[in-house]
Amino acid sequence: MSQRRSFSAMNYALIGLALVGLLLIWLTLLGVFGRQHVSAQTFVDFQQGDEPHLGFRRAHAKGVCVAGEFVSSGALADYSTAELLQQGVTPMLGRFSIGGGNPTAPDLTSPVRSFAFSLDAGANQQWRSAMNTPPVMAVATPDAFFAQLNALAPNPHTGERDGEKIAAFFAAHPETQAFRQWSASYQPSASFAQENFHSINAFYLVNADGKQQAVRWHLKANTEAMPGIEQPSSVADNPYAQSEQANDALGLEIADRIRERPVVFDLVFTFADPSDDASDPTVAWPSSRRHVIAGQIVIERVVDSPSVCDAVNFDPLILPTGMRPSEDAILRARSAAYAESYRRRAREQIFHHSDTTP
Ligand code: HEM
Repeated sequence: MSQRRSFSAMNYALIGLALVGLLLIWLTLLGVFGRQHVSAQTFVDFQQGDEPHLGFRRAHAKGVCVAGEFVSSGALADYSTAELLQQGVTPMLGRFSIGGGNPTAPDLTSPVRSFAFSLDAGANQQWRSAMNTPPVMAVATPDAFFAQLNALAPNPHTGERDGEKIAAFFAAHPETQAFRQWSASYQPSASFAQENFHSINAFYLVNADGKQQAVRWHLKANTEAMPGIEQPSSVADNPYAQSEQANDALGLEIADRIRERPVVFDLVFTFADPSDDASDPTVAWPSSRRHVIAGQIVIERVVDSPSVCDAVNFDPLILPTGMRPSEDAILRARSAAYAESYRRRAREQIFHHSDTTP
């Protein structure tokens, strides 16, 4: 009798243990014990705020759609099998934009200016890149970036930013130093054509032997094609700055400029040394690193039908064969958030088109 009791007690204990084990596995799968990462939906919910602008991008909502070509010199042919990096010409669709989700925001005063391109060299040879003016990010992880967005967001009732909250965020994130340094020295210019646009995140070029080289890239005004562009300017020099159309000054200026003659940027690649961490977008690589001009981005016309750019998601993970993403976690978060934003605006597209053709 006592033997049967102790046997069934042991059975109960085993069953109990098995149930606890299953519960632990379930909770682990739910992420209760691991780190919770900010989802693409949470990012986009935050970026769009309580009153989303239907049909528009949830970030970089205000922009100008343009087209032209990428003229490759072939200088990177030994480093990548990508067809568009061999010598030749690839059609390009591009978009100048400012940061933020408000499609009617004043553009000249925006702290973030951007350019995105989509290069189409055929099957498995598509390359999309969305670049911003800073050379580095303030933080290195999606969670920290979400914390940054929260710290910098103005109070919805007063419209004011909370200085203490911002100071506490930067104090807790010393990795923001390079970004802050850049931000303190950055002078916004009168024209999109005078800005440098950086990939910020790193990628790998892959050659025919499978050898990889970590790189970043940026666009830089080509001074031969645009004489005078190197002159320093400030927002006050923009021809629309004091006009009734000042709200759209940057967009109007770039459209006028393109209609007059092509706007040309050099596409400059920076090669990492083995000591550079390709997964960390907060650290600027030393200026002594090798630079290679891969060719020119030539912007020839303003695209009058805004739906052309609306239809494109400038997802930074769309890369041609011969290029691949670095391990930088921000890249995956970007790709997921852009897709979520795209899904929302594509569903709503009937309401609006997001690009204003000046
Ligand atoms: C975790 C970090 C980031 C998140 C969550 C994020 C989120 C977004 C979202 C939701 C969009 C709208 C996409 C669409 O509807 O098509 C967008 C657009 C854009 N983002 Fe980001 N972004 C991040 C980091 C960056 C970085 C590091 C850069 C620059 C290197 C960048 C540059 C751009 C540009 C240029 C666009 C506009 C592209 C266009 O013209 O359509 N973003 N971003």
